[in-house]
Amino acid sequence: MEKGREDRKKPTIIAHRGASRYAPENTLAAFDLAWQQGAEGIECDVHQTKDGSIVCIHDSDTSRVSQESLIVAESNLNDLKRIDVGSWKGENWKGKPVPTLDEVLQSVPKGKQIYIEIKTDKTILEAFYQVLDRVSSATEQISVIAFDAEVIRQLKVDRPQLKAYWLTDFKNDQTEKWQPDLNQITDTLKALKADGLGAQNHEAVDQTFVDALLRSGFDINIWTVDDLDEARRYLDLGVTSISTNDPLSLIKALGLG
Ligand code: G3P
Ligand code: CA
Repeated sequence: MEKGREDRKKPTIIAHRGASRYAPENTLAAFDLAWQQGAEGIECDVHQTKDGSIVCIHDSDTSRVSQESLIVAESNLNDLKRIDVGSWKGENWKGKPVPTLDEVLQSVPKGKQIYIEIKTDKTILEAFYQVLDRVSSATEQISVIAFDAEVIRQLKVDRPQLKAYWLTDFKNDQTEKWQPDLNQITDTLKALKADGLGAQNHEAVDQTFVDALLRSGFDINIWTVDDLDEARRYLDLGVTSISTNDPLSLIKALGLG
């Protein structure tokens, strides 16, 4: 159903990896700070441990966020829990651990949203469903996002009631056209039965692009927007949501507080 411009809501602000400008990304501290700053939602990245737990961390290993380097898929949860992924962001955050997805879901306040980015292939999905069945979050609070189209396709087969967004960036194929183009994106979203798109913050996302997706009934989330003029542009375009490392500044600048 097409959304007329006058019917469009203001974008919701999603804290990318939590309030990650201020606190160590993908920790409970960063997610808690996002709620304090007034974010409507949080975004987290997930991987699976060797012993089958799902943890929130962006990379497939801990080397960027810890002094100790562990490969998540080759480590047990207890080993990951022992390491400090907070100190790199400042002494205040010393000792902050990698959270499980269970812990993060349990921390989402009623009525708020969580975007869960699956960073692996679809083999994680069975364990993912077990977490969802264990933690009684409301279905409408959860959106699943992934670059891997097969993850989105499988998720919509298994759990069609969950919102799922396919992620894409844009590349120039040297013909002065950005790829994927609007038609390719729309075809992909329809084929996957996705609820919408997670698009890179990019000049390819213009009024024609946003209008066409909304007209086709898709939501559109933009990542990652920290510049306030860029945020105002997306507000004017009428996107569904904006992911930012700095929810505090965007909420203030866009008058969403
Ligand atoms: O929301 C999508 C966005 O988070 C993808 O980029 O690298 O920050 O996970 P990345
Ligand atoms: Ca992410």
